[in-house]
Amino acid sequence: MQRRYRLLQFLADGRFHSGEELGHLLGVGRAAVWKLMQSLEPLGLDVYAVRGKGYRLAEPLELLNEEQLLAELDPLAATLLHQLEVVPEIDSTNRYLIERARSGTASANACFAEYQSAGRGRQGRPWISPFGTNVYVSVLRRFDVGAEALQGLSLAAGVAVARALSSLGVSELKLKWPNDLVWRERKLGGLLVETAGEPAGPWHVVVGVGLNLSLPEASARLIDQPWVDLKTVAPGQIGRNRVAGRLLLHLLTGLEEFSRHGFAAFRQEWERYDLVRDRLVSVSGVGSVTHGRACGVDHTGALLLSVAGQIRRVLSGDVSLRVAV
Ligand code: BTN
Repeated sequence: MQRRYRLLQFLADGRFHSGEELGHLLGVGRAAVWKLMQSLEPLGLDVYAVRGKGYRLAEPLELLNEEQLLAELDPLAATLLHQLEVVPEIDSTNRYLIERARSGTASANACFAEYQSAGRGRQGRPWISPFGTNVYVSVLRRFDVGAEALQGLSLAAGVAVARALSSLGVSELKLKWPNDLVWRERKLGGLLVETAGEPAGPWHVVVGVGLNLSLPEASARLIDQPWVDLKTVAPGQIGRNRVAGRLLLHLLTGLEEFSRHGFAAFRQEWERYDLVRDRLVSVSGVGSVTHGRACGVDHTGALLLSVAGQIRRVLSGDVSLRVAV
């Protein structure tokens, strides 16, 4: 990735660069530049090559910068972070941090990636993670409690992300149980929470957030559900480092709040963001689909579903809205 990353640093301005100029900057010949340009394809970026002009990206990129990210943290958040890593490329930031937690080499870490080659979504789905355009971050935190005390954590993390976006002026954001960030019924991002530990604790929790900022066409084609990106939602152009830093701030402080007060501190706020409340939904679990009316969440974060006059607690599954007939 190193050479590819340097090439992308030059191309990030979105202007044309000739093969000769790039070769000179990278210390390689024009044929090697051409090869490197080919290697950008799997990164999911839209790249143009025009005879006589050279190469350029369809859109300029704001690459992640550690200093700018950290500038968004307040003093409390700064004390809650032991190590921040910003990597050009990784398979999955969640996989990376959960493995570090298991091997005992990390406990209060955050990892951002410019690109994920095997980004993980919920229910074993892939998370499309093109280079340098969206935000992919995982935050690891240790909780010295048993598994029960962690109920509702993933919903609390969703509220933390909603707070971050609302602090940047994003309105009309909704949360679709359990972990989708939705704007006007289209998916803006999602959270994946993974844990490692023993039933009695301690637990290591990794909260991973993927947020679409500006989806290149080549990547958007791979997404099989209605999606939206932040540039559409908040056309005033919010800097990528600002969004990333704000997410980190609210994830760190949100997890701290959760460790002190549990989901109770987030429940009312979650319900204000609840996309499906009072609507007819279908919940698909393993091998079954349940239809009912969504009635909010209980104190553990379970979805309450009214089915034939009875309230059922749903602990996991995929929720889809049903078309009214
Ligand atoms: C979803 O399916 O809605 C959850 C998507 C979570 C994606 C993020 S991107 C950063 C972190 N690393 C991963 O591999 N997945 C999460």
